[in-house]
Amino acid sequence: MKFLVMNGVNLNLTGKREKSVYGTATLDEINAKIAAFCKASGDEVEFYQSNLEGELVNKLHEAFLKQSFDGIVFNAGAFTHYSYALRDAIAAIDVPVVEVHMSNVHAREEFRRKSVLSEVCKGVVCGFGANSYIAALVGLKD
Ligand code: DQA
Repeated sequence: MKFLVMNGVNLNLTGKREKSVYGTATLDEINAKIAAFCKASGDEVEFYQSNLEGELVNKLHEAFLKQSFDGIVFNAGAFTHYSYALRDAIAAIDVPVVEVHMSNVHAREEFRRKSVLSEVCKGVVCGFGANSYIAALVGLKD
């Protein structure tokens, strides 16, 4: 199978920002761990990160129009909580998307408990750090 792992706004600073919440592993290190997991299970994986909402929308459209992936693991960062554009893009495509968060968003500030994406996603994983991405891949594979 072939998967796309997407990260949204501020996730490029993972390992450097709010280390007590998101840990010290950089996004490159997390992606390397995901790549090793996919290699071991015989799957292909591609990574994409952008701080720009429209670029993330474009990537979701491309995945749909080219039918290039069997599933998408998506940590939209703060866009999760208010981006109707990303919600509509996920609803528009037939590729299954799993919403992921490294932190347990339900144990943090009130505004993080609301996701406008969950309703149109195949599933949601949060609270397991880098392993949230791996758990989402396990779910998609099944
Ligand atoms: C996050 C949680 C979001 O609330 C936050 O805005 C992020 C990261 C996570 O991975 O825990 O940027 O998506």
